[in-house]
Amino acid sequence: NNNFLRAFVGQNLITLKEVDSTNTFLKNILANNEPLPDGTVIMAESQIAGRGQQQNKWYSSTGESLAFSILLKPHFLALASQFQLTQIVSIGVYETLLPLVGNKLKIKWPNDIYVGGRKLGGILIENQVQGSAIKNSIIGIGLNVNQTNFPAWVPNAVSLRQILQTDYDLKALMFEICSHIERWYFKLKEGNGSQLNEAYLHSLYWLNKKGRFKVQDAIFEGMVTGVSAEGLLQVMQDGHVKAYNLKEIQFIHN
Ligand code: BTN
Repeated sequence: NNNFLRAFVGQNLITLKEVDSTNTFLKNILANNEPLPDGTVIMAESQIAGRGQQQNKWYSSTGESLAFSILLKPHFLALASQFQLTQIVSIGVYETLLPLVGNKLKIKWPNDIYVGGRKLGGILIENQVQGSAIKNSIIGIGLNVNQTNFPAWVPNAVSLRQILQTDYDLKALMFEICSHIERWYFKLKEGNGSQLNEAYLHSLYWLNKKGRFKVQDAIFEGMVTGVSAEGLLQVMQDGHVKAYNLKEIQFIHN
């Protein structure tokens, strides 16, 4: 399960039986100034206080779901370009799952992994900055793999098992995701940002389709036309395109 080409991501793998959050664990090691190689991966069998975006909780199921964090040190990347990290990570997860799931698989802006309107995985990236560059990027990935059901407080979730009626090897999936992320990371380092944007938009949920959105208390019909370099969602409404950040806009599910 370790045959995917990787130069450094996942080379140093730390597996834990139980942890609060793999992102928090990684942060704590860094805070103690313990040296950790670029590409270190922390993977947990059981995560009891998994964290999601916007202060949400993230649900993991012991031995059934994938919860891991990757440490990258993208010193070459300006803070202003941090959205490119979001892109390489979501594309990496997307590319790993595409051969299994097929065309229904989408990236829901900014970095949720969706299948037919339900959430298969999520990504939480926490960047530590030095000057105007990114010193450490803590990239947390959670994927619903072998679950057969979900607790009621986790709405709208789906697992690979529920879609494909098959169990998957968690570690093999994790290594494959690392390998895809690494490939895009090198491309980014070499300055191939435009290719990255193309690949991201290609897999984006709701691109060029009409949908309902909520901004403050107003609900309106609009169309996603793209994502800006800063990672803002561009939505066209009444012939005008406006850009929103994650806190400002919500998709409405009918
Ligand atoms: C989201 O969709 O809101 C993001 C979910 C991210 C979950 C992963 S699981 C591994 C890592 N550790 C955490 O506490 N969160 C991320």
